[in-house]
Amino acid sequence: MTEAHVTYPVLEHIRKRSYLKSRDEYTAMYKKSIDEPDEFWREQANRLDWFHPFQKVSDCDLANASIRWYEGGKLNVAHNCLDRHLSERGDQTAIIWEADEAKDGRHISYRELHAEVCKTANVLKSMGVKRGDRVCIYLPMIPELAYTMLACARIGAIHSIVFAGFSAESIRDRILDCEAKMVITANEGVRGGKRIALKSIVDKAVEGLEVVESVLVCRRTDTDVPMKSGRDFSFEEACSKQRPTCPAEWMDAEDPLFILYTSGSTGRPKGLLHTTGGYLTYASLTHKYVFDVHPGDVYCCAADIGWVTGHTYIIYGPLANGATTIMFESVPTYPDPGRYWDIVERHKVNIFYTAPTAIRAIAREGDQWVKKYDRSSLRILGTVGEPINPEAWEWYYDVVGEQKCAIVDTWWQTETGGIMITPLPGVNELKPGAATLPFFGVHPCLVDEEGKKIEATEAKGYLCMQAAWPGLARTVYGDHERFKQTYFSQYPGLYFTGDGCNRDKDGDYWITGRVDDVINVSGHRLGTAEIESSINAHPWVAESAVVGYPHEIKGTGILGFVILNANIGDQAKEEIVQAVREQVATDIGKFARPDLILVCPGLPKTRSGKIMRRILRKISVGEYGNLGNVTTLADPSVVDQIIGVHKEMVKK
Ligand code: WTA
Repeated sequence: MTEAHVTYPVLEHIRKRSYLKSRDEYTAMYKKSIDEPDEFWREQANRLDWFHPFQKVSDCDLANASIRWYEGGKLNVAHNCLDRHLSERGDQTAIIWEADEAKDGRHISYRELHAEVCKTANVLKSMGVKRGDRVCIYLPMIPELAYTMLACARIGAIHSIVFAGFSAESIRDRILDCEAKMVITANEGVRGGKRIALKSIVDKAVEGLEVVESVLVCRRTDTDVPMKSGRDFSFEEACSKQRPTCPAEWMDAEDPLFILYTSGSTGRPKGLLHTTGGYLTYASLTHKYVFDVHPGDVYCCAADIGWVTGHTYIIYGPLANGATTIMFESVPTYPDPGRYWDIVERHKVNIFYTAPTAIRAIAREGDQWVKKYDRSSLRILGTVGEPINPEAWEWYYDVVGEQKCAIVDTWWQTETGGIMITPLPGVNELKPGAATLPFFGVHPCLVDEEGKKIEATEAKGYLCMQAAWPGLARTVYGDHERFKQTYFSQYPGLYFTGDGCNRDKDGDYWITGRVDDVINVSGHRLGTAEIESSINAHPWVAESAVVGYPHEIKGTGILGFVILNANIGDQAKEEIVQAVREQVATDIGKFARPDLILVCPGLPKTRSGKIMRRILRKISVGEYGNLGNVTTLADPSVVDQIIGVHKEMVKK
């Protein structure tokens, strides 16, 4: 951190177009947002259409996890994303659907999207979904995903989108937690040329669940699937009977918009709840400034809507701003590793946003896949989800952007609702690997082990926030105490992010990654505890401990240390390893499957029985000689045995 870093100056042609023209301009606006937050956010709320004005800008108390914005104000998210654009840009493309096979894709104008959303909203209403009801959406990246989420917003229902890679059991847990009365899915998904039997996964998930009254099934492929009479309904059939208009409910600014489950250090995934007015203001403002989106721009965020990035930066931010946004159904390597740049060329994409893991995966396939396509439309390149290593950053900058694009390395979280720390086009010099500066209204600080705020500019610590912002989640659905405990109790008065961070002498922030038991695998957030509980459920397994280790493509790989039951006989090692990996794929989803499983004779535990993961993390990177104090372990000899097994695995 103290060594000199390469910096890249602001590119003049970027600055010519950018909303912000200088660092000074940013600083002045930032200062106002921190010194007079209510004034700042009162003005920013004008970005939205309000049916009724709010009475109070903010009423927040971080110490008590009480966060309220724009109270008394009435608005509707779907109205803001659709209706208010119709007169000016009804015929403009709202969504470009980039299907798995490019030839199957299509453009959907704001007018068409409005009609589809209204029809869908009428379907939901006709099936008994009311304001405040929860609807679980388990869909692939098809236009119906946008229709259904916006339809929920239109009638005031709360959507809970579950990424279509999750297992039946994970969906079931999420349905039960929020008591969703409807589930929306598709007969099949299509990704990278392969079909995924989504409806049959949902059948398993909802079997015997009384809360679920109906399952709405979209038709993505021509495969017929079994439909349970009285419970399952065809989406297309239901829509065909509905009118393309539907009034938008007047929602309170603090009415819930959606629940999104995310992993934490302990226990089951938490349902983070986001509300209406603050979330949309923040989504819209960040989308405008971070990506410097101008009328006519084509914007592509290649994430999946099943994660928060897709919620905020494929749907809500872009549509609130009247932009043209791309929904990408496929994977970056299908039909070949040039797919992203093929999309850029065909749709003349100006702004492109993806995860470091995808950048690494395609970079290693060679520059020829990039150079084949015309990328001259590109202006801004974004990344999100995990720290980007400087090599991947440089490749993105040099090869993809030909040193003509600004890179925005955006740090944020499911909890934060939108981007928090990021470069802004036209404002900062870029430093590969640095998220650089806080967005407007974001007031970060670093705290030390003891929880003391570090005043020095150049510092290393835990990243916290000392003021609330409109995009912050309001609670964990059904468990406010857990919300308070998880984020607001370590450092009273501060929001704790769970990330470690360095601040350099210029005041730029460098996120170093999670400091808790959460791991970011290919940009997907997983809790080690969840994976362990799945592994432990296997009949052969007595106990396990999971750690993340550096992985060339995924950023972090999953390594499970497993102790077997004494009575499992002589199953072949390979068979055990595969069985344990499959157990996790079945329980959580394939994306959570451990990369490596190490069968060990014991785990390093303290005398009180706590597993010392610190030691396992060191072993996982081969730092055998640097384990620190192991004398507090109940049985220190176990460490050498684990090292022995790890060395053997590394040799192979
Ligand atoms: C990590 C994704 C470094 C971080 C939007 C955070 C990052 C977690 C970055 C949240 C970045 C996200 N640099 N780390 N630019 N962006 N992270 O909730 O550890 O899926 O806490 O939200 O991802 O993951 P989540």
